[in-house]
Amino acid sequence: MSILIIAGSARQDSVNRKLQHRIAEVAEQLGIAYRLYEPSELDAPLYHGDLEQEKGVPPSMQRFAEAVAGASKVVVISPEYNASVPPLLKNAIDWSSRVDGSVWAGKTVLLGAASPGALGGMRGLSHLRDILTNVLAWIAPLMASCKNANDETIAAMDDDYLQKFLKQGD
Ligand code: FNR
Repeated sequence: MSILIIAGSARQDSVNRKLQHRIAEVAEQLGIAYRLYEPSELDAPLYHGDLEQEKGVPPSMQRFAEAVAGASKVVVISPEYNASVPPLLKNAIDWSSRVDGSVWAGKTVLLGAASPGALGGMRGLSHLRDILTNVLAWIAPLMASCKNANDETIAAMDDDYLQKFLKQGD
């Protein structure tokens, strides 16, 4: 089993994708197997009940749910949009919560965020924690947040802290 590392931004130059890759680098240092989930793999129509009834869970979201279910733990790196969670991620969580009575139940989830702002996306993570707790995930206490995020600040994040972050739930 490997760790699933998700980023909630499909933007080409996304700082959250950069943090996603930084976390993967630390997993490599630790010799931990991981799978980077590409943001494009989260592409899906916006959830609504009629669509689900007519067509079921879209294939991309079925695959996402399977990836979550099969992971030893899940790292979610999320941008903060208006002090909350971006729709790409919220939509994927909503759809995946409709598969097998929530594939998140009992799953250890580690949260991280990168933001060019001074708060490091922490307000978004507090919403994300509530959402994932609602689908019965176990949220690890240490979060990986990068404020004033850019290539340099992400590269400069403390390896020891990120190793501790990644080992949570072992
Ligand atoms: C933002 N951004 C933002 N940043 C932040 O720290 N707190 C916030 O509440 C918001 N709100 C917000 C709303 C919307 C609609 C957008 C588009 C952006 C800025 C955001 O952190 C910045 O655009 C990041 O670069 C987005 O993450 P990625 O795509 O670089 O990973």
